[in-house]
Amino acid sequence: MIPDKAPGEDVLHASGDFKKEAHVPSFEKYKELYVKSVESPEEFWADFVKDFFWKKKHNGKFLDYNFDVTKGEIYVKCMEGASTNICYNVLDRNVNDRKLGDRVAFYWEGNEPGDEKTVSYRELLQQVCKFANVLKSQGVKKGDRVSIYMPMVVELVVAMLACARIGAVHSIVFAGFSAESLCERIMDSRCCLLITADGFYRGDKLINLKLIADEALQKCREKSFPVEKCIMLKHLTKEDEGTTPGSLSPPAKRACPDLQVPWNSEVDMCWHSLMYDALDECEPVWCDSEDPLFILYTSGSTGKPKGVLHTVSGYMLYTAATFKLVFDYHPDDVYWCTADIGWITGHSYITYGPLANGATSVLFEGLPTYPDVSRMWEIVDKYQVSKFYTAPTAIRLLMKYGSEPVHKYKRDSLKILGTVGEPINPEAWHWYYNVVGEKRCPVVDTFWQTETGGHVLTPLPAATPMKPGSATFPFFGVVPAILNESGEELEGPSEGYLVFKQPWPGVMRTVYGNQQRFETTYFKKFPGYYVTGDGCRRDKDGYYWITGRIDDMLNVSGHLLSTAEVESALVEHESVAEAAVVGRPHPVKGESLYCFVSLSDGISYNQKLEAELKKLVREKIGAIATPDYIQNAPSLPKTRSGKIMRRILRKIASNERDLGDVSTLADSSVIDQLFENRCSTAV
Ligand code: PRX
Repeated sequence: MIPDKAPGEDVLHASGDFKKEAHVPSFEKYKELYVKSVESPEEFWADFVKDFFWKKKHNGKFLDYNFDVTKGEIYVKCMEGASTNICYNVLDRNVNDRKLGDRVAFYWEGNEPGDEKTVSYRELLQQVCKFANVLKSQGVKKGDRVSIYMPMVVELVVAMLACARIGAVHSIVFAGFSAESLCERIMDSRCCLLITADGFYRGDKLINLKLIADEALQKCREKSFPVEKCIMLKHLTKEDEGTTPGSLSPPAKRACPDLQVPWNSEVDMCWHSLMYDALDECEPVWCDSEDPLFILYTSGSTGKPKGVLHTVSGYMLYTAATFKLVFDYHPDDVYWCTADIGWITGHSYITYGPLANGATSVLFEGLPTYPDVSRMWEIVDKYQVSKFYTAPTAIRLLMKYGSEPVHKYKRDSLKILGTVGEPINPEAWHWYYNVVGEKRCPVVDTFWQTETGGHVLTPLPAATPMKPGSATFPFFGVVPAILNESGEELEGPSEGYLVFKQPWPGVMRTVYGNQQRFETTYFKKFPGYYVTGDGCRRDKDGYYWITGRIDDMLNVSGHLLSTAEVESALVEHESVAEAAVVGRPHPVKGESLYCFVSLSDGISYNQKLEAELKKLVREKIGAIATPDYIQNAPSLPKTRSGKIMRRILRKIASNERDLGDVSTLADSSVIDQLFENRCSTAV
């Protein structure tokens, strides 16, 4: 499956001094370790296991599992019987055992240039202990769920690690989601407390986060799920800056003391006041390997988000190992991942993976284009970033402005570049490699999912010859296969469904509260395999190329959205009888949302309605789901049994006249009408 020798032609080989000291220095070494990781996982992972502190060692198999629905319930257990604490391992172990207390954990860089703060491992540990005590004082116990809805501030990391310290389960909701989405997630995971902030700036735009959080809590109340505890961090409205012990955030240059923050003294508590009295020591709660660590929601094809559940030990090992090997981490690195912690990339590769390695990271609150399009490279130079990890959509966005904004800064500290979130087109890959990395830095195109916990297909920077646009080969312990529609494994060069044949430590354990949905979504279609939902091609050299989602999921700017989710928001409008949403290729976002709406009898389409529909989707889901195109579609193409033919709608959205086989279409006259009314410009 993996070629015996590294392919020699049409590939790019990493160069540079870093290869000599790399953890996996050659393709031969990768191959040798890969075989060991699959044949003897216990032996392979032992090297990582020994780096961590275990209150009790595991007593059973390293990995115990069933991946075959025909043989009973699906389960994965890693290191059963062991007990540990992930917060202890990423903080106390670094401060006390490894003597890294003075090392910088985070360089926080605010939205506004000049807003900055440095936090050491010792300070982070102290803050986490204090906040863990705060949570305990509010009655939060092991196993309780805590919802976190915060901007990119150090306190977000503090809140998540404080939960982990006491064995509570964090459920972080990206701060761009709407009140409705937050409410849905709070209710699904039955959270007992919400942690939020007053507000933040995204570029020029002020977001009154507390207002949205309050709306969400009100909705929960109306649905008979009252959450009567909310801790709010003052991020923009601090009047008493500098005098509050326990405050980590710097004075915000763009502070907004006049921000109208709604306050309900029966529910709301101020982060800073609670921290004032909290003790800075807190004994960790020892957790079993398979105790839940966090829930993170991801779009599901039914429209209802799925609460992906990860557990303690396997996730800890996997994020630590992938971070170390994929970014070839060394202690003098400064690492920067531009993702938001509200997504899995931030969980695994801002918080847990880097901290487990004792790494120094940049934590960035702002945007790549604010105040100008050089901001990323300015930050790279400022902190001497050596490992840089971002999304193809950000690369394509910056590429539009050419190389000049990049050349304004030196970037000579950069050693490795990474991408994640969607397929990267070769043009963007080459720009990243040539212009940003000046042909000096290998690009690691990491394929993975919220569900996989960490990278599953990825190059290793010194070992894997690169092919632009390919995520190359599996990470250790991961066994991919490509299946055809009948579920047969394809050999050699082929294209089909990407599946995995056995678990690795970081794979999700269940959908929170819905084991059945877990099994149906990932294991039913092809018994014996974990089904990713992505299409994939394997070339003659064995390289894997992700071709995109093959379910009703869209990838907009690296964010997965389900078409059903957007459709159900649209049909909530009283004027809309039916809606169908498809993806249309977009030069920066990858895909954009193209919505067809059929209106109720007697309603005519106009700009006011269009604006209302856009607003509705933003309110129901969030700004990331805002429709790019809305087309009035009096009739939709359907089969005789009434099923909407999305394949045809996708062609119409991208103005492709070759529709393929349309023999199953009930009424072919709708096609001309739909082409005639196509939207060519975004709304
Ligand atoms: O379609 C694949 C795409 O993103 C999906 C996972 O999305 P999410 O769970 O939100 O996690 C994103 C961050 C890990 C995948 O099913 N995807 C992710 N990385 C890549 C990718 N597609 C191609 N190449 C990648 N490197």
